[in-house]
Amino acid sequence: MEIRFLGQAAFELSDGETTVLIDPFLTGNPKAAAKADEVSADAILLTHGHGDHFGDTVAIAKRTGADVVAIVEIANELSAEGLAKVHDPNLGGTVRFDWGSVKLVPAWHSSMTPKGTASSPAGLIVKFGGKTIYHLGDTDLFSDMELISRRVGQIDVALVCIGGHYTMDRFDAVQAVKLIGAREVIPCHYDTFPVIETDVQAFKADVEADTSSRVVVLAPGEIHSP
Ligand code: NI
Ligand code: MN
Repeated sequence: MEIRFLGQAAFELSDGETTVLIDPFLTGNPKAAAKADEVSADAILLTHGHGDHFGDTVAIAKRTGADVVAIVEIANELSAEGLAKVHDPNLGGTVRFDWGSVKLVPAWHSSMTPKGTASSPAGLIVKFGGKTIYHLGDTDLFSDMELISRRVGQIDVALVCIGGHYTMDRFDAVQAVKLIGAREVIPCHYDTFPVIETDVQAFKADVEADTSSRVVVLAPGEIHSP
């Protein structure tokens, strides 16, 4: 399977047959690696409602007929928008598909959709293509990342916000990586806007000096096979 970074916190998981989008913020994303009307999707998974994650979910789901998984309050808004295949777990819930599954886990952040629906934010444990991927969502550092990781077993790839200001910064993110113990880490949620600019190569150096995880830095549009 392949992971394509689409900018900010948006990722595309693909195995050549099925495509899963996470947090597809493309329109208005200065680092977007694709346009909302050209991506394909069998499923769209959301960490929370902020515009830089919720993004083009409604338009992509309407065009593609994709399943959408979002925490219950956001799911209800999406159903009211006319989307048919909406799944509405809350934290701790797992939604299973032919291609794998997604479980919502805690994140320390806030969440409101552009239309004003408030909810808890989430991280996502995604099983796809024989790999386990932990998208942390937007979050600060918290010690239960270790518990989440222990319950999941070996995490192949962690998608980790590092930009600071709206989330943990690259220094706290090193500690997060220590708690999670993923084989590989792909940093995200940095350099999209001036306020979240950071030194990704310094993050990589710090993680690889201090943990056994390997950091894979992807420019928007780049693809990695874990
Ligand atoms: Ni956010
Ligand atoms: Mn965000």
